[in-house]
Amino acid sequence: MPIKEIGLVSFRNHDTINLEFCPNINVIWGKNGSGKTTILEAIHSLSIGRSFRTNRKKELLKDDMEYFSVTGKFQTADKVQEIQINQTKDGARRILIDGNKLESVKELIGLNPVVLLSPEEQIITKGTPQDQRNYFNKLFSIVSNQYFTILSDYNRILKQRNKLLDDFNIINEAQTELEIWNERISEIGQKLWKKRIDFFKKYGLELKNTVKDFEDSGFTFSCELVTKIIKSEKEYIEILEKRQNKDIYLGRTTFGPHTDKINFIFNKKNIKQYGSQGEHKLALLLIKLAEVKLIRKVTQKDPIILLDDLFAKLDDSRSKQAMAMIDNDLQTIITTTELKIVEDRGVKIDKSNNCSFYLG
Ligand SMILES: Nc1ncnc2c1ncn2[C@@H]1O[C@H](COP(=O)(O)OP(=O)(O)OP(=O)(O)O)[C@@H](O)[C@H]1O
Ligand SMILES: [Mg+2]
Repeated sequence: MPIKEIGLVSFRNHDTINLEFCPNINVIWGKNGSGKTTILEAIHSLSIGRSFRTNRKKELLKDDMEYFSVTGKFQTADKVQEIQINQTKDGARRILIDGNKLESVKELIGLNPVVLLSPEEQIITKGTPQDQRNYFNKLFSIVSNQYFTILSDYNRILKQRNKLLDDFNIINEAQTELEIWNERISEIGQKLWKKRIDFFKKYGLELKNTVKDFEDSGFTFSCELVTKIIKSEKEYIEILEKRQNKDIYLGRTTFGPHTDKINFIFNKKNIKQYGSQGEHKLALLLIKLAEVKLIRKVTQKDPIILLDDLFAKLDDSRSKQAMAMIDNDLQTIITTTELKIVEDRGVKIDKSNNCSFYLG
């Protein structure tokens, strides 16, 4: 859903700033530190209630100010919807849609999906298994509220089971309690696995289609979910019981969807271990193009594309690939230090439906 306007008050380095976006390409340009990435961060926050740069909410508030506010107007099928995030110095936060306070961030996620391509996102191919799981958990939560609910329940139950394991002492009560948690976690864990495997298959298909579009480039790229296929809750519980001593020893649960791994395979090798810098960048682009396709297919919504500094330091062939991210039907917001950098790559700023914004 395109964003029509954004307004920031005391958000990072911005005192107050208001931008009116165009329906297609928007280029935000200005020198280093002028607050370009901060605008993308604000749009991302309006989309899922979280920054992509930090988990520390206090970091977002402009130095010495009492509160910040981010307001965005999004064009939905039949009206303009206003989303606002207000946060005070102590981290207390309210999210409002058309003036109504949300009970939970769950109501926000998936309303206005964004797809972000930024240097930070490179952890999807370079980071830990946890980073990879986080990526897919986030994506699947955006396309499915049900996935988000199941994931939140699983994480809560996992935390409680881990706490019990950590405090475990060999008395019968703890043993009985553990049996109860085994039942709970196996039920929800199996649900989560089912959904994850299902969405992962869908995502894999979109990735395959994306790679096909690059066919003449002479490489192969795919992803695989390394997981355990469980046939029944009974089997799940048996595995938990078998591992019980180990889990007690370690003070955490060593079996379940939170231990899944995702491998990205570039030219038959795991990119994490073997990929060159350029291959990592190309892989991220493909991953993101597939993300756009999955969101469009499952939600029937057009995501907003956020490209942070994408065109800096790209050679010509890579830049042609990067241009694939700019689909004429989608709203795209690009940051760059020099307008010329994006113009040289073929972005036509003067075209109707395109805009540029200079941050001093
Ligand atoms: N809480 C805060 N209060 C005040 N200033 C902040 C806060 N957080 C970050 N800043 C400053 O905001 C500025 C803008 O950062 P941002 O990353 O948005 O810049 P940018 O235009 O994307 O720069 P670059 O071209 O280098 O990527 C930085 O100088 C940073 O130090
Ligand atoms: Mg930046």
